[in-house]
Amino acid sequence: MIVCSCNVLSDHEIWNVVTASREQPLSAQQVYDCLGCSVQCGRCTRGVKRIITEASTACVERAAEGMSGLRNGGYLEVTGIGSASI
Ligand code: FES
Repeated sequence: MIVCSCNVLSDHEIWNVVTASREQPLSAQQVYDCLGCSVQCGRCTRGVKRIITEASTACVERAAEGMSGLRNGGYLEVTGIGSASI
């Protein structure tokens, strides 16, 4: 779904930037920068911020699940940017 019509950014693009980032949480401006664009009319900023919050929460939850799995000899899998075994 297109979230930003001025820059033609989809929710998937925004979600991928947030979940691939080592820095959490990202600001809306950082997301626009990563995608090579900038805020123009500003109508999308609320939606972008919502996606950042949802994606950041999902990252934290996956990390927490991975950490508990690691204690039991499991592995940490990061969806979307590869996986790593420990
Ligand atoms: S809709 Fe995103 S800047 Fe206009």
